[in-house]
Amino acid sequence: MNGVTGAEYRALMSAFPTGVAVVTALDAAGQPHGMTCTSLSSVTVDPPTLLVCLDVRSGTLAAIRAGGWFAVNLLHEDARDVAELFAAPVPDRFRRTASRPSPTAGVPWLTGAAMAVAECRVSRRIGAGDHDVVFGEVVTTAHTGDPPLLYGHRRFCAWPGGGSAPAAALATEPGR
Ligand SMILES: Cc1cc2nc3c(=O)[nH]c(=O)nc-3n(C[C@H](O)[C@H](O)[C@H](O)COP(=O)(O)O)c2cc1C
Repeated sequence: MNGVTGAEYRALMSAFPTGVAVVTALDAAGQPHGMTCTSLSSVTVDPPTLLVCLDVRSGTLAAIRAGGWFAVNLLHEDARDVAELFAAPVPDRFRRTASRPSPTAGVPWLTGAAMAVAECRVSRRIGAGDHDVVFGEVVTTAHTGDPPLLYGHRRFCAWPGGGSAPAAALATEPGR
């Protein structure tokens, strides 16, 4: 028997800080969808695989189910407005932030808001209660080296160290 309420569970997970992603995809009509997502985890290096856990009511999840591809956009520390935009019920999210198609599948890469991006081919999807666990094989990555946006204790904050990671500016390279 489950003795923990949803509120207690959310309080627990709010004490586990993360980076902030916007997961994007195209639906069958080619329309872009995207949602703020912190349930991102690395799974394996070989093959390079990550997972996201998406609410079964999500329009972005429906697009991923239809198209079989998604992008992960890791937001930089100045992009909390984009994190809030993609978490709110706003119909024209993509008119309010810059994007371009990823190289292989054409899923939206948020060029203005992301410090690292990846395009992923769905390799497995598992239903788990009110969410789907979506596994994606990483096909292409790019990164700027800017500091990441963080989320914890129900608020956004900047990377405390400041400065940039030693990454090749705007490099695009195959996933490893
Ligand atoms: C910081 C933050 C993290 C979130 N992480 C997730 C997540 O991991 N999975 C999820 O299903 N929803 C998550 N959400 C909620 C979605 O972003 C939100 O429900 C969104 O409006 C869904 O959009 P869609 O229905 O257009 O796909 C998060 C919201 C915030 C503010």
